[in-house]
Amino acid sequence: MSTPKLSTRPLKGTRDFYPEDMRLRNWFFGKIREALELCAFEEYNGPTLEPLEIYAAKSGEELASEQTYNFTDRGGRSLSIRPEMTPTVARMVAARINELAFPLRWYSVQNFHRYERPQRGRLREFWQINADIFGSDSYEADFEIISVAINLLRIFGADESMFRVHINNRRFFSDVIASVAKTDEDGVKAISKVIDRRGKIERAGYENELRSLGLGDAEISGIDSLYSMNFSDIISLCPNSRGAAELRELFRVLEAAGLSKYCAFDFGIIRGLDYYTGTVFEVYDLAPENNRAMFGGGRYDNLVGLFVARDDIPGVGFGLGDVTLENFLRTHGLIPEPGGKTLVLVTRFEDVPYEKYVALAGQLREAGIAAMNYLGSKKLGKQLENAAKAGCTHAVIMGGGELVRGVVKIKDLATREEQTVGYSQIADYFKK
Ligand code: HAM
Repeated sequence: MSTPKLSTRPLKGTRDFYPEDMRLRNWFFGKIREALELCAFEEYNGPTLEPLEIYAAKSGEELASEQTYNFTDRGGRSLSIRPEMTPTVARMVAARINELAFPLRWYSVQNFHRYERPQRGRLREFWQINADIFGSDSYEADFEIISVAINLLRIFGADESMFRVHINNRRFFSDVIASVAKTDEDGVKAISKVIDRRGKIERAGYENELRSLGLGDAEISGIDSLYSMNFSDIISLCPNSRGAAELRELFRVLEAAGLSKYCAFDFGIIRGLDYYTGTVFEVYDLAPENNRAMFGGGRYDNLVGLFVARDDIPGVGFGLGDVTLENFLRTHGLIPEPGGKTLVLVTRFEDVPYEKYVALAGQLREAGIAAMNYLGSKKLGKQLENAAKAGCTHAVIMGGGELVRGVVKIKDLATREEQTVGYSQIADYFKK
């Protein structure tokens, strides 16, 4: 009886990346890195494991307790597999606060884990591109971060028919809710948590939760009416709010930069993470099948202050998820056909010493041409079949006769054309 075999499937919500998957990922991450560096962002990285307390402090109940993979290590420490980058980057900035030149622009491309229900656009292991600016409390940094987010989709050829940046402001949101619900800061916090789940829970449950926080019919319908108001009407509810001023400035500069066609004010954007204090935004794919946010971000003025006694290093940034980005690129036909790369198989015959083939592949590589030796002793037809399957574009064939004459045959595997070339002209053949 044969022993049962182990599963070949990756854990639920995680993915294997085969070479063809990595080709695609390297392509889109490469373009993103290039674009961020052009905007003067520098890459950083941090550990996969962090103390649980850095998420418990400010990321919010849902992320820290329900979604984070937490465990106790052999030394009895409470640790988390990072569910996000922002507390880590704030910690790193705090650790070098006296040496860094502010405002600083940093980015990273890393993987994260969250125990979520796997669904389209959401998995348990995913990658995020994080880009953050530290040390500016001006709307200018908010604008820069949002314009970088827009640019990261435009570099793939996306236009305004494909995505929208939904923008709100936490300060403004709190001031409006405080005035409509006639409550204080703590009341606003509790009410916001319920409102954040407005579209996700039953209407009766939503109303009951608001009532349990002391709201009556008038307040509940007052909150409902906020969602049908346009920008200027809603701003007029709290015209002197600092958040309203920030929103006005941000939209003015987005308009002046020609970016407002990508953006919309959306009072429904609150963001689940507790640390945001000002501008908040999410970027949505306009294709209805991709309904989960692609980017989430905003301003957080007090995360660095968790680690050092300083309150003058605010941050603003975003996380862009790889799962939603890939869905977006596929849905809108923004992934180019692969191709253009030369890969050569050096075939092998028994009557030629193996070292000759090793030297031949070495010569190709030295000239910058990707090459591999055939390993084994199959007939030439089988070797060529294998080459085509492995993605080779050409085969270099050298039997005993060619060796004596100092030539090789080069076969184009797509056209099947063959050409005899002098040993010393092989690199020139590929270069032209
Ligand atoms: P977030 O909204 O939790 O924000 O995540 C940002 C993006 O990461 C989401 O819009 C989504 O594309 C992706 N993402 C999140 N969870 C998952 C998941 N389970 N599966 C696939 N993709 C996912 C943050 O994480 C903030 N730390 C971002 C930030 C940086 N804010 C300021 N700086």
